[in-house]
Amino acid sequence: MAGQIPQHFIDDLLAKVDIVDVIDQRVTLKKSGSNYSACCPFHNEKTPSFTVSQSKQFYHCFGCSANGNAISFLMEYEGMHFVDAIESLADSVGLDVPRDQQAAQQRDDSKPLYALMASIASFYQAELRKSPEAIDYLKARGLSGDTARRFGIGYVPDGWDGLQKQFPGEEAALLKTGMLIKGDAGKRPYQRFRHRIMFPIRDRRGRVIGFGGRVLDQQEPKYLNSPETPLFHKGSELYGLYEARKAAQDATTAIVVEGYMDVVVLAQHGIDNAVATLGTAANQQHSEMLFRTVPNIVFCFDGDRAGRAAAWRALTATLPCLTDGHDAHFLFLPDGEDPDSLVRSRGAAGFRDLMSSRTPIIDYLYEHLASDLDMRGIGGKAMLAEKAKPLLATIPKGVYRQLALRRLEVLIGLPLGSEHAGPSSTTATGAHRILAARDAGLTPMSRAVLLCLQHPAVVRAVPADDYEINPELPGADVLLKLIGFCDSDPGITTARLLERFRDGKQYAYLVKLAGKSYYPDARELDEMTAVNEFVHCIARLRERSRKNLTDKVELSARTGLLGLRRR
Ligand code: UTP
Ligand code: MN
Repeated sequence: MAGQIPQHFIDDLLAKVDIVDVIDQRVTLKKSGSNYSACCPFHNEKTPSFTVSQSKQFYHCFGCSANGNAISFLMEYEGMHFVDAIESLADSVGLDVPRDQQAAQQRDDSKPLYALMASIASFYQAELRKSPEAIDYLKARGLSGDTARRFGIGYVPDGWDGLQKQFPGEEAALLKTGMLIKGDAGKRPYQRFRHRIMFPIRDRRGRVIGFGGRVLDQQEPKYLNSPETPLFHKGSELYGLYEARKAAQDATTAIVVEGYMDVVVLAQHGIDNAVATLGTAANQQHSEMLFRTVPNIVFCFDGDRAGRAAAWRALTATLPCLTDGHDAHFLFLPDGEDPDSLVRSRGAAGFRDLMSSRTPIIDYLYEHLASDLDMRGIGGKAMLAEKAKPLLATIPKGVYRQLALRRLEVLIGLPLGSEHAGPSSTTATGAHRILAARDAGLTPMSRAVLLCLQHPAVVRAVPADDYEINPELPGADVLLKLIGFCDSDPGITTARLLERFRDGKQYAYLVKLAGKSYYPDARELDEMTAVNEFVHCIARLRERSRKNLTDKVELSARTGLLGLRRR
């Protein structure tokens, strides 16, 4: 089925679309905990049992067991064929399906959209020059005309149809770029942004792909951003990256802040190397993108609880990017301050001073893990090691990881042999494990497969040699394939893993496991427990392999043949 469209393209596509957006456009989703939920579109119900996981890029209904990835959703919900579903998704994120003529055609389609966005940005800049209110607002926030020009800042007057009047005949394109909102049936489309300061969001090539708009007063919402469009995908863009690369060409550090204004005001004070995530948490893609330009990242966060939670997410997203030569730090700002307010009250020198008190990422890792442990006793130290190891295992092999491990040894006052590079199999969650195994009726093989599917990063917690599992054990072929996929692609998601099995006979089984709760009580499995559980399952499978194998079978030779050598 997928034969005509290359697998790598489907992979890229699933990495770029967000299933939450895909579904939310058709079935309104509500945030619930770390997931989203709704009444299931595939069966009749009054209380929501349909959940969508953003991290897994996967939906599942506890009522009717419907589940799958974004492609499956379109196929089931819209009744599309596989190829149509792919095209529709590709269209929504501005990708061309690589199939000869059609691909070229689509690329041509987005050209007028970029041109249109550029014209809109100029129009907003011209409107700014005509609005004393908007000019005064920016002045009051300390911006010079130069800085405003550098970032292409503009203003959109109040009203419902300014853009339609300015760009007659472009209604379809204006809708496509998210600048207009489709009205109710029979009504005209209207402007998304009205009476706001407009910050153009540029891609790495400097093309305007979206806007952020700020109110001039106390109205809500304070900021409004472009929606996901063929040009704009917020999870893979950073505000100010284009401007920073132009202005700070030999910078060796990128500063990641939270807001548009922080970026712009820092630049006003000569700190040109700041970028902002667009109202989302910093993810691995962001870190990878920055590390392609600079060797160091400093993440600035509020010192409050929300800031610390965001910092922890940035930390776990960045660990896998810490190849030798890359480094990251965290700067926690004083209460109630943001980079904008700080640089304004203390000046660039004051801000740089503050920067020198930043915390290295590994220090923050241990600090955070130790914060609820009693490090005076051996229990606390052992627990720290237990919690740190699976995280350290996500750092690419190299000197950086070695030094991070060395630091752990110092903290717990004990050398860890090299065999301790991954987590051990004894954990505090033993009781849960027994409960899960018995009540959910899953074998260690199924549990390992489930964990790989739902938490692909777990495979990196196990040293390669530990995967010496007899390929003849039932299910081992699938597990070893999964491990191979997860191992060779650090960013792989549940959705992309499943896609690789779509045409195989195990697909239905895998889809079922991908949507299955690990615990019988449907409790969420956190990443660390997942790692521990996985290590435990693999150990069980190895034991069984040893028992089942007669001496004439040479295990290591066989796994070698399966391509399970690690990089
Ligand atoms: P903040 O609320 O910290 O605002 O949002 P700020 O950047 O300090 O804004 P000013 O200084 O009052 O102008 C930080 C970022 O979160 C996103 C925006 O990207 C903003 O820059 N955000 C915030 C929204 O998308 N919508 C909102 O309503 C608020
Ligand atoms: Mn602010």
